Amino acid sequence: MSAYLRNPHVWQESWDRQQEAFMPDREERFRAMLAAVAAVTEGEPPLLLDLAGGTGTITLRALARFPGARVTVLDQDPVLLAIAASSLRERATIVDADLGDPGWRAKLPEEGFDAVLTATALHWLPAERVATLYGEIREVLRPGGIFVNADHMPEESLPTLSERLRDHAREQREARYATGAATSWGDWWAAAAADEFLAPKAVERDRIYPATRHSQEWTPPALWHVDALRVAGFTEAGVLWRGGTDAAVIGLR
Ligand SMILES: C[S@@+](CC[C@H](N)C(=O)[O-])C[C@H]1O[C@@H](n2cnc3c(N)ncnc32)[C@H](O)[C@@H]1O
Repeated sequence: MSAYLRNPHVWQESWDRQQEAFMPDREERFRAMLAAVAAVTEGEPPLLLDLAGGTGTITLRALARFPGARVTVLDQDPVLLAIAASSLRERATIVDADLGDPGWRAKLPEEGFDAVLTATALHWLPAERVATLYGEIREVLRPGGIFVNADHMPEESLPTLSERLRDHAREQREARYATGAATSWGDWWAAAAADEFLAPKAVERDRIYPATRHSQEWTPPALWHVDALRVAGFTEAGVLWRGGTDAAVIGLR
């Protein structure tokens, strides 16, 4: 029997550990996002969109923090969406859609979100698409709703220090891989591809993300995002959180 079917939750856990190897402060940024959600919903159960949500990590944290929250997870990775489906069961709506296609909005079950949250994902899209997407995201928010994007956003004014921070993080990560304390990105995907249940989904994933366009890895500074949010029509935009070369920007509709 497939290891996934025997214990699907292990995959959610291993995804989180694999991502934490890249971002030791991953939970910290999620807490900052959810604090901003709490600030704009004032005790009401929020309506949330976890954009490019993968296995639904942000959704799981939001459901734990806000009982009664209604959450939609949108992604297009068949492996990660299968893990999200078993982690979340009926507790969230799962939408399979490509953010590269402006038609993604038509696949949402509803609009008027209190918050759209996304992490470590939009650097997969080209610059011009991200700028346009910000306008589309604004449209699915209610007036007074927020959008938060946490991603790799180095400070433009700190080029040398940013490189050192990245080198240091890479050394620490590789040391963890070497001792077996964390699974690398490549090993995690190899394990998924070797699982009887996930293997066909991994083949489908390779079609969606061929090696040549796996990741655009376009990581402009936080101020680029703040400007793009303003141009997209957000009334307020700025940096919500920063940790090393990563940051979370926020826009208020
Ligand atoms: C590194 S993962 C992060 C997932 C999740 N936000 C988390 O923090 O665990 C990047 C995610 O972006 C999704 N993604 C990238 N490009 C996408 C697109 N064009 N449409 C939908 N999802 C996309 C990937 O499928 C993947 O789940």
